[in-house]
Amino acid sequence: MNAQAPKGTADMLPAVARAWEHMQRVAQELFARYGYEPVYTPLFEHTDVFTRGIGEATDIVSKEMYTFEDKAGRSITLRPEGTASVVRSALEHNLTANGAQAKLYYAGPMFRYERPQKGRMRQFWQIGIECLGSDGATADAEVITVLWRYFETLGIPAGSMRLLLNSMGDEQCRPAYRDSVAAFIRARSAELCDECVRRAESNPLRAFDCKKDGCRTVMADAPLLRDALCDACAAHYAEVKTHLNGLGIPYVEDSTLVRGLDYYTRTVFEIQVDAGLGSQNAIGGGGRYDRLMQEYGGPPTPGLGFALGFERTLLALEAAGVDIPAPPRADVFVARVDDSVLAEVFALAQRLRDAGIATELDHQGRSLKSQFKQADRLGARRVAVVGPDEIASGEFTLRDMESKQERRVALSEAVAAVTASLV
Ligand code: HAM
Repeated sequence: MNAQAPKGTADMLPAVARAWEHMQRVAQELFARYGYEPVYTPLFEHTDVFTRGIGEATDIVSKEMYTFEDKAGRSITLRPEGTASVVRSALEHNLTANGAQAKLYYAGPMFRYERPQKGRMRQFWQIGIECLGSDGATADAEVITVLWRYFETLGIPAGSMRLLLNSMGDEQCRPAYRDSVAAFIRARSAELCDECVRRAESNPLRAFDCKKDGCRTVMADAPLLRDALCDACAAHYAEVKTHLNGLGIPYVEDSTLVRGLDYYTRTVFEIQVDAGLGSQNAIGGGGRYDRLMQEYGGPPTPGLGFALGFERTLLALEAAGVDIPAPPRADVFVARVDDSVLAEVFALAQRLRDAGIATELDHQGRSLKSQFKQADRLGARRVAVVGPDEIASGEFTLRDMESKQERRVALSEAVAAVTASLV
């Protein structure tokens, strides 16, 4: 058998898993302040949740989905992102019936068959929020602020982040704009790569995302959505900016920011960092998707949200020199002089653990000396030493690993004495 994890996946070993848990804790605490509640949706869905939601012509749907038939012949897809699933779930469970607002957050693995590189995985982890039911521009400014504050709270300096902002328009103004970009691409096709020329027919706005220098130069002359927004979209966009200005959230307008999912309408945004990430520099992004629920056959229900990538955020944190604190693995180590007191040691450790004290002991029959070394490695501040003499007098020795002082403690007082010594 092949004992390596599949290409584009990675084991989250304890140091990284701890960072993931830390990031989830920070998210839970911050998002709760803005009224978000947790939601867990399945890791796979009927394929059309994604083809309809994200769009057939996107890279995700056309190239990157893990799709398979289940044993009953249904087409199933591992989720490439969370928004489509959350909106499907909100519709199925009537979470936004009668104009109710639903504010939901999620965290978990997503799957995209991409070419792996630094910060780009086939299984990656996202944390996201979705705010359903509100079309007001304060909702946009709030969602963007949550993402900005989240990265700040984790320790990424504001000065090393760039928040890009754009409006994608809506069904009133975008079709004509798409046509004008398609016409522009056809007119300049000789200077563009084959893929961009093909995009003129399927998804012309994606040509703004082409990384080739020649295409970028040409696309810099393309018509801009900023100049094509209808009055309602222009007013909404202006209001979003006013609210962001009011909160002091710094943004850069980027009229070529189109993002890779077709469900977006109006506001889109992305936070990028320069250090540590190379070309995969977007650590989080999102936008509004006011037509998505209708796409699934539901009532018109505005919505917006964001998702951030765990792996890229971790790289950004490393580049910013942020250490995620590792708690000691044990507060107390219960060491034994020899195996004749094993049962007493095991029982003492359990009493301490039951009292909420992180306690370790040796399961491998090591010498007392190497038990002390192990206690050090685990970061234990106290060692309870138990030997036949101590047991005979109903006591144990409590050693303070910092001051190196020792004292005898009655076994019957163990929990109270150890607890008091750790304060
Ligand atoms: P997205 O921009 O496709 O948006 O992904 C959000 C974040 O997930 C990216 O900024 C990046 O940090 C991370 N990410 C995406 N693909 C990969 C990958 N292959 N490897 C590692 N990290 C990756 C969405 O997924 C939307 N659902 C966001 C949203 C929520 N829009 C509205 N609500």
